[in-house]
Amino acid sequence: MITARLAMVARLAAAVGCVRGNTSLAWIDPVGRTHFLVPGGSHPYWAFVHLNGRKPVFGDRKDAMNAADQLLEEGWIRVVNSRTFHALGRNVSSKTWDAAIALTMQCVWANRARGEWNPEKGKVHLDVPNSKVMSIADFVRHYGGQKAEDQLFSRIRTARLAMAVRLARGLTLEHWNLQGLVEGRIVLLYHGTTKTFSRFDMNKSRGDLVNKFYGKGIFLSPRKAVAGQYADANRNIGFDPSLVGELKRSNPGAGAFLEALVQKGHQKAWEDLETDLDLQNPDDWSAWEATLRGVDPNRLSDLAPYILGSKDKPERGGSGLIFDQSTGAPDWLYNSLDAVGLDSNQYRPKVYTVSVKVENTLVTDKASEAKKARSSGYDCVVYHGSNLVGGVPEVAVFDANKIKILKVEQW
Ligand SMILES: NC(=O)c1ccc[n+]([C@@H]2O[C@H](COP(=O)([O-])OP(=O)(O)OC[C@H]3O[C@@H](n4cnc5c(N)ncnc54)[C@H](O)[C@@H]3O)[C@@H](O)[C@H]2O)c1
Repeated sequence: MITARLAMVARLAAAVGCVRGNTSLAWIDPVGRTHFLVPGGSHPYWAFVHLNGRKPVFGDRKDAMNAADQLLEEGWIRVVNSRTFHALGRNVSSKTWDAAIALTMQCVWANRARGEWNPEKGKVHLDVPNSKVMSIADFVRHYGGQKAEDQLFSRIRTARLAMAVRLARGLTLEHWNLQGLVEGRIVLLYHGTTKTFSRFDMNKSRGDLVNKFYGKGIFLSPRKAVAGQYADANRNIGFDPSLVGELKRSNPGAGAFLEALVQKGHQKAWEDLETDLDLQNPDDWSAWEATLRGVDPNRLSDLAPYILGSKDKPERGGSGLIFDQSTGAPDWLYNSLDAVGLDSNQYRPKVYTVSVKVENTLVTDKASEAKKARSSGYDCVVYHGSNLVGGVPEVAVFDANKIKILKVEQW
């Protein structure tokens, strides 16, 4: 019933505006038609014209007032503005009230329920016996029933939701310079790591942890500092086993002993060494030490537990947390790499500045959606939900070819 009238009321309400004050907006007749007054017109003037078929002249003022009272007696509603109504109450039909409600609802929707048009806070002024001021929502329910109130709120909720989503996406993406990801433009992002490489490789993604979040991907941040935090993460403590091969190539003796330490652990490696060498013969020891080319074997012992897959585990890095108060590997460890003749820069925390150009990005604040993005065919996901480092959105790219490395800096 209300719906049928909305289109007409919408046009008229839009024409007159949803304004406050005594604007003498309209009369609503007993069958529910809304008669808008000309701007500046008065209710008595309109009532007089309606009842007498002519304009009032000087001396008709009292009759004009009586004409207005007569319409009220007949069950008309005098609409001062979209939230102020005057009626005698007893003989007002439901159709007439429906039209009044439609007028108010239209203004609530047009004003997105802000401030004075918030249905719970905004007031309707009724010059109706026994009922003076009530909230917009109460007014709609009282005169239009529960269905009308549901209609009032459902439209607002949809509008509010749509606006919230637009705001969240718009603000987040623009604020973080991520807009280009949804527009197919190049975007600058950062990646923190301890690894050195010239191309990203999806196969390096460590499923154990990332499966809890987005699944395999290449993880990037719009903020360098956040990428730096990831570079220094406990998760990145530990050297790739290829480090052993590297040392073997540059220093075969030291590399071989490091390999033994990694495979057998400190105790067994040293025991085996003592068995192999003649403990009583210092020459044997000197000959072995010479194969290390000046590398202190104790350094190699300290280093071994930090090689991934090593028999002994490091003292630090086992907290299970990505970050903690003393996050990252200890500095002496990197210095040890230099001391044994490796280039520690290859293994130190660093931040890659990259450019990314993707075609199909999912923007979501739901971890469950982010997790499904890859299998749903997206090549990128921007996650801006809860549990973010520093509240900064994270980007996961699922195709390494869409990432170009521009710069690598030690962190
Ligand atoms: N690393 C970041 O800058 C970053 C940014 C945003 C979010 N995150 C979050 O941190 C978690 C772990 O991220 P991650 O980056 O450690 O991913 P990950 O745990 O999957 O580890 C993959 C590792 O492989 C490395 N790698 C990539 N290509 C390589 C190649 N060609 N050669 C050698 N190594 C290569 C990466 O640098 C990374 O260290 C993710 O779940 C994500 O939520 C990380």
